[in-house]
Amino acid sequence: MALPAAAYLDLTPGLCICRVLNGLWQVSGAHGAIDPRAAVPAMLAYHDAGFTTWDLADHYGPAEDFIGDFRRALARERGVAALANVQAFTKWVPLPGKITRQQVTAAINTSLRRMDVPALDLLQFHWWEYADPHYLDALDYLAELQAAGKIRHLALTNFDTAHLQIIIERGIPIIANQVQYSLIDQRPAVRMAEFCQAHNIALLTYGSLAGGLLSDRWLGQPEPGRRDLDTASLGKYKQMVDVWGGWELLQTLLGTLKGVADKHHVSSADVAVRAILDRAAVAGVIVGARLGLAEHINDTARVFTFALDDADRAAIAAVTAQGRDLFARIGDCGAEYRR
Ligand SMILES: NC(=O)c1ccc[n+]([C@@H]2O[C@H](COP(=O)([O-])OP(=O)(O)OC[C@H]3O[C@@H](n4cnc5c(N)ncnc54)[C@H](OP(=O)(O)O)[C@@H]3O)[C@@H](O)[C@H]2O)c1
Repeated sequence: MALPAAAYLDLTPGLCICRVLNGLWQVSGAHGAIDPRAAVPAMLAYHDAGFTTWDLADHYGPAEDFIGDFRRALARERGVAALANVQAFTKWVPLPGKITRQQVTAAINTSLRRMDVPALDLLQFHWWEYADPHYLDALDYLAELQAAGKIRHLALTNFDTAHLQIIIERGIPIIANQVQYSLIDQRPAVRMAEFCQAHNIALLTYGSLAGGLLSDRWLGQPEPGRRDLDTASLGKYKQMVDVWGGWELLQTLLGTLKGVADKHHVSSADVAVRAILDRAAVAGVIVGARLGLAEHINDTARVFTFALDDADRAAIAAVTAQGRDLFARIGDCGAEYRR
């Protein structure tokens, strides 16, 4: 593997991950057309560069099938033993309403089949409606499937601290929660991170590059209109920028990131990722990968070549402190999915 040892971490005993995960929402169709023939070679390139951990979901278009194709290609080209170095984390995102054991079993069996794995490394559960308590039934059934060996580890995505607490108190063995966390959206630092540290739960973060807005590409650029934002991800995080402080403040942040980046001979995106990797409770940052359309492998590898110092952190904080309080405006982690 080409990345240093510090790029890897035990998410829990027996589950070592790369701290920068490859995100596959970007293959869902809303981020440009992905050619399936280009996807697997692109996945092999990430894997060979040391980026061995994948984040996906049952509803990210062909993402689970791509993992299956990739695993078969890897076994064919490098031998079956190479599969031990792949970690693939999917999600189950059911509609609200009554949840049956059969429904949960069928959903997990579908992911197992599509991903061509004997057991899911990590299953991240999302729920749309806290007022509907069936999420607790769903988690009980998922825990049964874990005991039966179909799921190795259970996690959540977009749960707030209050509901994470309810789930932990029920005895569901949650090891991670996947949340939005960036220099723009720092809501997890308010309550979530402390709770996670106290309960040995890791944070996996998304949006840490704000769909790419937190990169040198956008420094000095005029404010984009809707049509200039050509991925669903850019559209999603531009809205967050607007709530946070707007384009001018983003430009100030990008200027500061560039200064820090130049000092360390890395890119602004590297600084944005490093800043979140260093936060309390954060085990990994997920960076979206538009397989076959764009890649940033060499640049992202530089995340592991430098450390931010106090002056860097102070310079960045001086800008982010000017943003609005998103916890007060939106609520705790995931509140934007539940309005
Ligand atoms: N749980 C949830 O609800 C949830 C929600 C959203 C996302 N996610 C997960 O998080 C992943 C990340 O997605 P995201 O939407 O949050 O996007 P993101 O990671 O913030 O941004 C991804 C985009 O950033 C750009 N980029 C990446 N590395 C770069 C670099 N070194 N320099 C410059 N630009 C760079 C790329 O743009 P180009 O491709 O244009 O080069 C890429 O498409 C998803 O795939 C998914 O796995 C989860």
